[in-house]
Amino acid sequence: MSKIIAITSGKGGTGKSTVCAGLGYTLAKQGHRTLIIELDFGLRCLDIIFGVEDNIKYDLGDVLSGKKTALEAVAQIPMASNLNILCAPKTLTAVNAEQIVEICRSVKKYFEYIIIDTGAGINSHVFDIVEQANLILVISTPDPVCIRDASLMSDEFYNRGNKSQRLIINKISKRIIGSELISNLDEIIDKVGVQLIGVIPDDFKMTVATGKGTPIPTDSEALKAFDAISKRLGGEFVPLTVKTV
Ligand SMILES: Nc1ncnc2c1ncn2[C@@H]1O[C@H](COP(=O)(O)OP(=O)(O)OP(=O)(O)O)[C@@H](O)[C@H]1O
Ligand SMILES: [Mg+2]
Repeated sequence: MSKIIAITSGKGGTGKSTVCAGLGYTLAKQGHRTLIIELDFGLRCLDIIFGVEDNIKYDLGDVLSGKKTALEAVAQIPMASNLNILCAPKTLTAVNAEQIVEICRSVKKYFEYIIIDTGAGINSHVFDIVEQANLILVISTPDPVCIRDASLMSDEFYNRGNKSQRLIINKISKRIIGSELISNLDEIIDKVGVQLIGVIPDDFKMTVATGKGTPIPTDSEALKAFDAISKRLGGEFVPLTVKTV
């Protein structure tokens, strides 16, 4: 049975889709059969990130309309043979949490990890869907607004009984840590109130790769961070790859 991981954040643009892509890629490279489900209805992006924009035949819209089964709409990603995606439709499509839960249920036995990109914006569907996950990864950047929104979001999950949460701090740079905005990583962790699972540096090499749809280069610091988080998801102890002091 697969482990379902929901990737979410309070504020938009924190890096949810990038984290889904990075974790999906490294989990797949580590040999795990992985599926990313993109719930960003009308704002698809994983096809561009993985360089398969012209090769996506079906998407979640076809599954919701009953034209295709979820498994038939899954596309395999050439840059990592264990990696698969189920893209969001390009148009806004009505969906409810039960439908997404049913889609996850129907493909669960084929994948070790199912990663859900909850998309931009928060609505009650997101909470209902995230409730089905085994683990919620809350993404925050060091931006104070983002930290506060991540904290509010996480509190709401706790209030609903979702105790299995971990924090990913994204877009960390040497310049911001120790600046007048943020003194250290602990300050972010304390403010969000969620146990840390990883820190991802602000890495222009990754921005270029995801923008061009090419594999993240092996010397990318962000890739090293994703590799470490993927191993931690499997229970391995791996030290933080980002040095902030
Ligand atoms: N660690 C990073 N280093 C450099 N650039 C990053 C990093 N993480 C994300 N980005 C860039 O930040 C931008 C926003 O990232 P992304 O689209 O993944 O955010 P999102 O949370 O999915 O946004 P939305 O809420 O709109 O769905 C993108 O241009 C992406 O390339
Ligand atoms: Mg996104």
